Parts: sequence; structure tokens; C-alpha cells
Amino acid sequence: CGIVGCVLDKKAAPIIIDSIKKLEYRGYDSVGIATVTDSINVKKGSGKIKEVDDEIKLKDIDGNIGIAHVRWATHGNPTKENAHPHCDCKNKISIVHNGIIENYKELRQELLNEGHVFKSETDTEVIPHLIEKYMDEGLDLLKSVQKTVKRLIGSYALAVLSSDEPDRIIGARNESPLIVGVSDHGNYLASDVPAILNETKKVIYLEDKEIIVLKKDDVTIMDLDLNVLEKKITTITWDPEMAEKGGYEHFMIKEIYEEPQVIKDTLSEAEKIKEIVSKFKNFNRICFVACGTSYHASLIGEYLIESQIGIPTEVILASEFEYFQKTLDKHTLVIFITQSGETADTIKALKIAKKKSETLAIVNVVGSSITREADHVIYTRAGPEISVAATKTYISQLICIYLLVAYLGENEKLLDNLYKISRLSEKILSREEQIREIAKKYKFARDFFYIGRGFNYPTALEGALKLKEITYIHGEGYPAGELKHGPLALIEDNIPVVGILPPGPSYRKTYNNLQEIKARGADMIILGANNDTHLDDIEDKLLFDPEIDEVLSPLLYIIDLQLLAYYISIEKGIDPDKPKNLAKSVTVE
Ligand code: G6P
Repeated sequence: CGIVGCVLDKKAAPIIIDSIKKLEYRGYDSVGIATVTDSINVKKGSGKIKEVDDEIKLKDIDGNIGIAHVRWATHGNPTKENAHPHCDCKNKISIVHNGIIENYKELRQELLNEGHVFKSETDTEVIPHLIEKYMDEGLDLLKSVQKTVKRLIGSYALAVLSSDEPDRIIGARNESPLIVGVSDHGNYLASDVPAILNETKKVIYLEDKEIIVLKKDDVTIMDLDLNVLEKKITTITWDPEMAEKGGYEHFMIKEIYEEPQVIKDTLSEAEKIKEIVSKFKNFNRICFVACGTSYHASLIGEYLIESQIGIPTEVILASEFEYFQKTLDKHTLVIFITQSGETADTIKALKIAKKKSETLAIVNVVGSSITREADHVIYTRAGPEISVAATKTYISQLICIYLLVAYLGENEKLLDNLYKISRLSEKILSREEQIREIAKKYKFARDFFYIGRGFNYPTALEGALKLKEITYIHGEGYPAGELKHGPLALIEDNIPVVGILPPGPSYRKTYNNLQEIKARGADMIILGANNDTHLDDIEDKLLFDPEIDEVLSPLLYIIDLQLLAYYISIEKGIDPDKPKNLAKSVTVE
């Protein structure tokens, strides 16, 4: 989600709507604006900003002070009721929020008991009601917001308006981004720099647990006890397009860098996944259905479930699903994995499956078509993914699958290890330079092989898919042991072969297979453990903490393969965000 707010010396709505459009990359399922004149004025609706604006004319709203929000739903479907801003009972307070209030259920119950009436299903709506409660007790707006945020558990970037104090916006931040923009004609609050770059280049970065009072001629930033803080003003030098990508050259690399956070966010869904698992009916077989990258995530699900729990599992490409429907019955659990929730092949398969079997969808986009059809839904928490090639959504799908397997198999150790992964993921992103060098070396290659065994056979497939998608080089993923039954004939001098070699029971066999390939002249790029002495003579190697064994390695090793594809694409002068012939979401069969 994204928020903006401003207090100006002129009508605010046109500027606010232009600003929020710059944040559409943070979410695009609903939008809303509130301003203050004598009273609070609100306009909101579900859909992309342009669609809502065409319908209800968001800019036609008076007032020199206002806030706006573009939503990426995490709680509650993307409906008008759930769109921000949200107000209190008396319509005197209006707020926009980015983040998740983890204790909203308790707060909502407390407020309901006190007679507050709620209009939406969102976690956010507790905030204006809490502020209302404290203002009714006689506190001013700032103190009421202070008391409110002290009660919130979770993440928030907030902007609050009140018709009782119509000259100011109160902002607050904890674990969700928020910046202040300062200028001679007014001041701004926003989730991210691109929102305000057309108005000012002077920015103050806020830290967690800070509160802001934004007025036309003044900005005061305080800690949670309202002690005033000295803050530095930074002058932004990026152009607006760069700023939208957070300073990164492309969305793809930005999204790869978001992966450690995505792992954390998706792990926070653990309790919900546990609850869903407890609701499954009796089943003796699992069937995954998906396309593209989601299909590769499903394959890892198959390996995990078969090997860790022992439930017969298979994976079917959504476009091939209709040929397999005869064996479905009420004892089959069919799991659909789709980032967009809109892939036509997957929707069609779900419609077939739900006639006979229990269905679960693992989806990134809240309220998408698939979520309305499946019996159960698990949301991955990757946030909007703009680059066509899936990266962070794949990681978030894997985290959901591992959580599912941990709960289905009552495997505490796996659960603990997932939290370890979250810690280790950040380290991987520090070897950009090394991967860049490898990319330079192999940018002219005609073919690549990616070799892995067991859990990492799907990693090999996904690594090769990334290469194909954004570098236009032929890449082939193969199971390590199968190469000798055919494709070994294609191995020749200097063909690059990526070998995935984590520690674990499969190590020895995979190592031997890689030796067979090396002996035929291939250039090896090995992903393995940093204490593996067998790799001493390998020039191009990407090394991981040995704690990441073969079961866990698919979660992290793929990050390097995404980076490798990305840098080869850059070396070749291709725009990785928009590969030719491909679409982010394919809505035809
Ligand atoms: C398209 C995209 C792929 C994606 C596939 C499945 O082909 O280009 O990156 O993996 O669709 O998408 P889904 O939204 O169902 O995961």
C-alpha cells in the first residue's frame, strides 16, 4: 500500500491524486482520498486509480489539506468499504494506513463493547475509532494519536486528519516506510519519495516510532513521548522514474532485494496457515496445479510432502489438468498456486477440481478471481510484483509451502529452520559484484545447463526459466542423475553448467554427476556450502552457510540464480522488467 498527505497553500486534491499515482506500483486494488473543509470529505472506490478517478472524479474535492491511499489488500477483499481512508463514528477523523495491525481483533472487540460501529473488515479501522475515543476523553489530536499508536502492535505508516484541528496532519511510523517532503508552498507526507518528487526534492526520512505534526509552514518530528527531534533534510537527486524503483535500475532487482523482508512477512502468516491445515477434511492424496514459476514452487511442494510426510503427491501443469480429472475424488486435496490469481489455465483447472475435491489456493493478490472459487485461501505476502519475471513471489510461495508441510507433518524442526532462513537470506544479497563478473563471462553463451537433484531439481528448472525469460539464452534444467541418459551428448567445451550442490544425503551422487560433466569440458558454476573443500579448484562458485542443507536450500539458492539471470540480461542490454513476448498475467487459455 502507499499513502500520501499534504498541507498546502492551494487546493490539495489534484496534487494528492498525482502523488498517489506515483505509488501505484505499491498496490492497485483500491484508492481513496479525504480532505478537510468545514467537515471531512471522503471519496474512495475499488479498482485502479484511473478507473476510480474516471468514475467518481477524485480530484473534485475541496480543501487545502488532505490524505490519500492506494491499497494492496492484506485483510479483507478490495471493496469500496475496505478502501481507505477510514473514519470514526462521527466522521470527524479520517486516516490512511500502510501496514498491518496485529492486535486489531482485540482492539476491535474492546471498541465494539464501548459502542463503536465499524464499516469495514480491515485491521485499519480500529485506528480512527481509538483516536475518537481519546479525543472524546478530552485529549487533542496529537495526544490522541500518541496514545493510539502506543496501543498498536504491528506495522504502520499513518496519516491522520481531524475536522476539529483542520490545519494539520498527524503522521506516525513503525516498520512501514514514511517520509516527509518540505517546500515553500506546503509540506508533504508519503510512503516513498516518487510521490512527492514533482513538488519538492527536499526530504526527511523518518525512523520507527516517530510522530509528525505536519502544517503548511511547519514540520515537527517527535519520539513517542513527544520529545522534539532534530532531523536532517536530504536533497534527492534521482529522477522520478528511478525513484519509483526505490533507486534501483529495475523493478526486478528491487524485488529481489525485497526477498529477505518477504520471507519475514510471509512467515508472519504461520498461524493462519496452521488454522487452515486444521480445517482440511480427510485426504489421502495431494495434487498441485500451477503454471510457470508457480509450477516450479509446486514441484518443491511435491518433493517435500512425499519425502517428509509420505503423502502421495503429484504436480500437474494447469493447462494439462483436464486430462487428469478422472482420478480426482473427495479424498484428494488439490492445491492451486498462482501469484496473480488470474491465470486463465489455473482458473479453468480450479473450476474442474472443485466439483470433486477439496481445494486450496496459494495466491499473492487478495480478492483475485481464484480466491473467490477455492475452498481455502492462503495469501503469500510478497506485495505487488511489477517485473514480469517472478522472483519475490516465488520465494513467498515456497515459504507458504514449507509452512504447510511443517504443519501437515507436525514438524517442529522444519518450522524452526524457516526462521533461521529468514536470518540467513540477507547475507546472500551481498555478493552482487561476484555474480556480475560471472554474468560478464557468460553473456555470449548460446546454451546453459542447470543441474540439481531432489529438492533442487525444481531449483534448476526455475533457474533455467529465469535465464530464458530475461536473457533469451537457451537454458535447460535437468535432474543431476538423468543427464547421462541423453543430454550429456550436448556437453562440450566451455558450455556453462550451473551445479546445485548443497550439503545433505544427495551430495555425493550429485557431486559425481557434476564431475562427469566437468570431465567433458563444461565450465562449472557451482552453488554449494562455504566449508566444502571439494570446491577449492572451482573458479566460479557461490557459497552458502552450511547450515542451509538440501531441504532448505531451494529457499535461498534460487536468489543467486535470479541475480545471475538479471545481470546477464543487463550485460546484454535487455530490459529485464519487460521481456519480449511475455506477460505478467496470462488471462487466456
Ligand atoms: C505468466 C508469467 C510467469 C508466471 C506464470 C504463472 O506466464 O509470465 O512469470 O509464472 O504466468 O502466473 P501465476 O500468476 O499464475 O503465478
